[in-house]
Amino acid sequence: MSDRTFYVTTPIYYVNARPHIGHAYTTIVADVLARYHRLQGDNTYFLTGTDEHGQKIERSAAAAGVHPQTFADQVSSSFQQLWRRMGITHNDFIRTTSPRHKQGVQHLFSTLYERGFIELRTYTGQYCVSDEAFVEVAPGEPCPDCGRITETLSEENFFFKLSAFQRPLIDLIESGQIAITPETRRNEVLSFLKGGLKDLSISRSSFTWGIPVPEPAASATAQKHVIYVWMDALANYITALGYGSSDQRLLQTFWPANLQLVGKEIIRFHCIYWPAFLLALNPKLQHQSTQEPPILPAEEHSAWARTWLQKAVAAHGWLLFEESKMSKSRGNIVRTETILDAFGALCPASEPASEPTQNPSAAQQHRDLFASDILRYFLLREIPFGQDGSFSFDALITRYNADLANGYGNLVSRTLNMISQYFAGSIPAPSLRPEAGEDPARTERRAAAAALRDDFPALQDRLRPLLDHYAFHEYLMEVMRLISRIDNLLSTAAPWKLAKSSLPEDQRDLATTLFVSAQGIRLATALLYPILPFATARVWAQLGLGSIEHAAAHGELKLLQWDGFQPGTQLGPLEAVFPRADKGLAQTMTEMETPIAPAPAVSAHPEPASAPSAANTTEAPPAERPSISIDDFARIELRVARIAVAERIPKADKLLRLEVDLGNERRQILSGIAEWYTPEDLLGRRIIVITNLAPRKMRGLESHGMLLAASQDGGKPYLATVPDDAPIGARLK
Ligand code: MSP
Repeated sequence: MSDRTFYVTTPIYYVNARPHIGHAYTTIVADVLARYHRLQGDNTYFLTGTDEHGQKIERSAAAAGVHPQTFADQVSSSFQQLWRRMGITHNDFIRTTSPRHKQGVQHLFSTLYERGFIELRTYTGQYCVSDEAFVEVAPGEPCPDCGRITETLSEENFFFKLSAFQRPLIDLIESGQIAITPETRRNEVLSFLKGGLKDLSISRSSFTWGIPVPEPAASATAQKHVIYVWMDALANYITALGYGSSDQRLLQTFWPANLQLVGKEIIRFHCIYWPAFLLALNPKLQHQSTQEPPILPAEEHSAWARTWLQKAVAAHGWLLFEESKMSKSRGNIVRTETILDAFGALCPASEPASEPTQNPSAAQQHRDLFASDILRYFLLREIPFGQDGSFSFDALITRYNADLANGYGNLVSRTLNMISQYFAGSIPAPSLRPEAGEDPARTERRAAAAALRDDFPALQDRLRPLLDHYAFHEYLMEVMRLISRIDNLLSTAAPWKLAKSSLPEDQRDLATTLFVSAQGIRLATALLYPILPFATARVWAQLGLGSIEHAAAHGELKLLQWDGFQPGTQLGPLEAVFPRADKGLAQTMTEMETPIAPAPAVSAHPEPASAPSAANTTEAPPAERPSISIDDFARIELRVARIAVAERIPKADKLLRLEVDLGNERRQILSGIAEWYTPEDLLGRRIIVITNLAPRKMRGLESHGMLLAASQDGGKPYLATVPDDAPIGARLK
């Protein structure tokens, strides 16, 4: 192992929503990098977890009628279970409700309080009750967001002196000591910093679901305060390593983090608040509490930053589904489980002849890992890191078939089957030297094979920086180019024809072609390992090379040599790697995702984020608000409708196509109720329809609305109906 360490983190995910492929994306990127660094021999630590405090969670739990801890336990375990299904190799999973984390956060708060960076202030400002946020307007002026009249409110809060760190942060980011990628995000952070930093409110007294402000600060106020959820959450990156505990070994080994991965919407939290908290931990900033914190020269901050600030923050873009950011509040999420279940069914290893025990859980695990590889490949190949990317089931299937089934998988199957057939499964010996008087086609083939070998060092040089710069899609394009060059070699040499010839030079060519192809497969497999850990493990075993995990752990995947594959190596048992996927799989997945009653996008307000000013400037992720105003409700248009047409949709078991009469118009609505209602049951019924939902495409058909129905635990939906004399088109209020 090298003496280099690599500590990579993902954001910790809110437990107000079940995991979707947006969360999986960040986790996959972190996993790929962790695997890559492990195979480089770096002492690697990979952290992920869940963010479980705050008003948003408290409200979601209340809406679900359970205690926030019960709620958090359930959702946190669904994240952990998903990562297990996907074979994610995190070293630790931190939960913000765990005692070790709470202890660390309180320690952080107390330290900053003792240093004089936190103080109790009474903030007086204009408060918009409807938005539950301070807004920056003069007394008597309306709220800039919703237009309602604001009230002057005084609130006691603990504030962190963020403003003291404006200059040091600019210096550290401009000098590259905190490397922020991509460039656009770095500029965004810098221009935010240059616009001036206001102090940050870091406690809340309006709700209780959080970590209590510790003593001695707590005694400074009669109210009970909990620590602001972002301070709580950001601290996870060090509490997981033992910050605030007596065991500092992990912290000493791995902190500062080498890389913090984040979605682009939370870059400011990670590049401003977080490093500011860390800068404030510098003991040189110790001072008497009555004074302002001392100003330190830039070099002091820089020296402290080297040992205490994360080295790099990389922000990726959003996964878009049906053109908008995939998120729970928009109701347009794709669950990772859908992809695991649907693609898992294709897994050839799920009924392995090699596993006579028929262990169902092992088979299930194979299916999950097989499918997980496909999602990993798709997300990294399809989306240039840093940019937004669209997700669709069709694109997933197309990419899978083109690159994995027809590309890599097919090459492996072709080559290994021929080696098995023509050489009894033993890697043949090549002869790449030209022979006098040979025919030019043969010389050309030999040259193409030699060129593959000769070009390999240059390919490695091109590949080397790509993963270090998160250019996953370029990396995969290069590897796929190698695969198609090998494919071309096979197609031109046509070994299946050579095998029929008894000429010694044809036999030599046959051996050479298959040898070169096997060499290339071995290298492509090693290169693909961090992205496709399961598939490459299977190919590695089929090549007769044993365990790829073992090879990775022993540095064998690090220094790759073209001729590293020994002739005479005996292949392992063969089986298909990536069978082709039928286009119909897209329909299956759409059906799996078709909610019986998708949650209407009520209103998604960001949680009041921080100091009054920052509440409007931070792009906090959309939050749920189970309690809505009457105006929110009025935005939902509910009308009485009569079902005029009801029919099944070919090949869609769950969907019905309806046409509903709304009095002055007729609309097409697709509804996932076919399991419970026949078209005949429905014709003529007077039902309630949400008429102002954004149209949604399913099975190539547009759905313009949604039926109201009541269901429990995903069971039968009971259609909400109205008396037969209710006027068609009447609005429900
Ligand atoms: N809990 C905070 C983070 C605290 S970190 C100290 C949070 N949680 S979140 O669950 O809303 O989102 C976390 C991350 O999930 C995002 O930053 C991003 O990495 C990932 N994604 C969530 N939705 C996503 C997409 N639609 N697309 C891509 N990634 C997305 O913010």
